[in-house]
Amino acid sequence: MTTWITICDTCKREDSVVMPAQTDGEAFAAMIEAAAEGSTRVQTRRVSCLMGCSHGCNVAIQGTGKLAYTLGRFEPSPEAAEGIVSYAEAHADSDTGQVPFRTWPQAIKGHFVTRHPPLPSDDTA
Ligand code: FES
Repeated sequence: MTTWITICDTCKREDSVVMPAQTDGEAFAAMIEAAAEGSTRVQTRRVSCLMGCSHGCNVAIQGTGKLAYTLGRFEPSPEAAEGIVSYAEAHADSDTGQVPFRTWPQAIKGHFVTRHPPLPSDDTA
């Protein structure tokens, strides 16, 4: 099942090192999209603001019927982008969305902000 990486493309870090013509979020989105290219289990999309503006850059990891997460405080870098994609692939491989800590890429450790349980199915309402 596909895991989606939703990337805020309007995040701006206080210590921004990216060219002024581009937000940190835009730069990070391009890096994540490049890292995810060719993946059969992960897709990406961009949104403007995930309401975590004070601790960008931010992404969300989501899959139908699975635990969902938001992660933030990323500096836009290829290493961080590759870590997010690697984590998203492990999330896609997991039946519940839970990924064992021992398998987390180093680049995502310390970046989790929230966890959301999956919604109940309509059959249980
Ligand atoms: S601008 Fe990125 S979370 Fe608000």
